[in-house]
Amino acid sequence: MSFEINKLTCAILSAILLYLLSLFVGELLYHKSDVSKVKLSYAIVENTNEANESIVEKQEIINLPDEDKIKDMLQNARLDEGEKFVKKNCSSCHDFNMPIKNKIGPSLATILNRKIGSLSDYKYSKALSKMDDKWNLLNLYLFLEKPKVWAIGTKMSYRGISKKENLLNTIKYLENISNKNEN
Ligand code: HEC
Repeated sequence: MSFEINKLTCAILSAILLYLLSLFVGELLYHKSDVSKVKLSYAIVENTNEANESIVEKQEIINLPDEDKIKDMLQNARLDEGEKFVKKNCSSCHDFNMPIKNKIGPSLATILNRKIGSLSDYKYSKALSKMDDKWNLLNLYLFLEKPKVWAIGTKMSYRGISKKENLLNTIKYLENISNKNEN
């Protein structure tokens, strides 16, 4: 009888042992592959992030305009196209002729190198009147590209010139008309 019990206990113990062993092996296999998978995807994510960051950084450096870069770009800009664009997009609010006359917006007849927000008979928003700078090519570029981003709180309700070609043609026209009106 005790022999039978021993056999039974042995069988049960073996079964339990086998079960534990299979759990252990399974866990080992599963866990191993899982860890390496996680490591691999982490490495991929890390690399892509790094790559993206450096691409963005480079693009920002390439795209960052400055006064000289804009001067260079203006060489290929078209005055006639600029005039057409301005007539269509700006002249409902701005006047471009001498003597200085304001409409909804201030006169742009002498805009280049004029102090920002400085015509005494025009009521500017604080966004412009508080700026301590002048309308050089760079400031015109940045303002006209995204007025509300460059001059937060401006009352110019124009969304900006998204096409670079139009932006440069417009600046060329503003430069030209200012030079003409000031001589
Ligand atoms: C819907 C009317 C409107 C349109 C369209 C518009 N503007 Fe303006 N603009 C304004 C107003 C209003 C101001 C004054 C903004 C302020 O005080 O914040 C302004 C200000 C400006 C100034 C600053 C002038 C200064 O004396 O400091 C420039 C430069 C300018 N606009 C250029 C343009 C150009 C170029 C276009 C066309 C591409 C244009 N704007 C289209 C209404 C307009």
